[in-house]
Amino acid sequence: MPAPRCPVVHAPAVIGPLPVDRTAAQEFLEQFHFETTPAETLDGRLRQVSAEIDATGSYTHTPDELAFGARVAWRNAARCIGRLYWNSLRIRDSRSIVAPADVAADCVEHLREATRGGRIRSTITIFAPDRPGRPGPRIHNDQLIRYAGHRTASGEVRGDGRYEEFTERAVALGWRRPEPPGRFDVLPLMISARPDTAPELFEMPATEILEVPLSHPDLPWFAELRLRWHAVPAISNMPLEIGGITYPAAPFNGWYLGTEIGARNLVDADRYDLLPVVAERLGLDTSSERTLWRDRAMLEMVRAVQHSFDEAGVTMADHHSESERFLTHIQREERAGRSCPAEWSWIVPPVSGGLTPVYHRYYDEPDPTTRPAFLAPEPS
Ligand code: ARG
Repeated sequence: MPAPRCPVVHAPAVIGPLPVDRTAAQEFLEQFHFETTPAETLDGRLRQVSAEIDATGSYTHTPDELAFGARVAWRNAARCIGRLYWNSLRIRDSRSIVAPADVAADCVEHLREATRGGRIRSTITIFAPDRPGRPGPRIHNDQLIRYAGHRTASGEVRGDGRYEEFTERAVALGWRRPEPPGRFDVLPLMISARPDTAPELFEMPATEILEVPLSHPDLPWFAELRLRWHAVPAISNMPLEIGGITYPAAPFNGWYLGTEIGARNLVDADRYDLLPVVAERLGLDTSSERTLWRDRAMLEMVRAVQHSFDEAGVTMADHHSESERFLTHIQREERAGRSCPAEWSWIVPPVSGGLTPVYHRYYDEPDPTTRPAFLAPEPS
């Protein structure tokens, strides 16, 4: 048999992430040196990074580069109304952590430090990055703290309707549902060492999860509904990309706005769907939408949420002051010579939109290629 004219090259199976894009690394380092005053020169650092990419296909951010990158990723988050404080994000550098059990334990430590008994601090923990042939760990939960949704025999969902599927997945992986299933059962962390390995489950100690029982400033029956919500929203499935390097597990938290809980989580039809319950207790006429019973019930829900967080001494913003702050942020950005892209439909609060100044204007269009950035979650 004649030898093939083109030798057949048996390329090694491509495993895991590709080498770092040098242009992305360079652009990031230029931005870092333009906006801050690092001790070393840009040229020196570029040579170093280039040599490291030659040798390993990747490079290691200095702690200052990492902090700057994470903060600017927040600054670039076009859906976030809370960006005024982007520069005070606390960084937890956990790049040496890869094993799921260690990731889980460090997430709990993140929550402890970020919660601070209620005086919430905006914090990010950055776990091992993707490197060529060596992908980093993955957190499959969309937030560190979420409540299970249990499908019951009668066909309804008990708990958070949005997490029914995730709850089923956890059960399939061996999670033992609380018995009896509750409305506010905190889901376990679901973590893989890398994208191609099976996830493992880790229960968080209940003592580390601060929750606020809900009551209303002047409706005593509200507490009888036995509603609650957790204090810290910590998004855990958005990869962080800085200078060509992806950190697939980089959970970050801020603090809640009352409307997120009182006008969405407890209200959306596919979440807790509680407006009919509240309206009934309020004695509202629900026979027609034109009585505006939903609007009235929702307002009392938001009042209860804000009141309860305040009573419990847990940081919470309201949509009026947060809207003002966001406009201050835009002004500051413009004074610094930067534009501040934003998505109107995410910035405007889900109640009383027109009462807030963010409603009455448009924003610069976000550019999806802007970096550093928090990226859309990977399918998991
Ligand atoms: N809306 C999400 C929730 O209700 C949280 C998103 C982040 N919010 C924040 N205030 N940092 O859980």
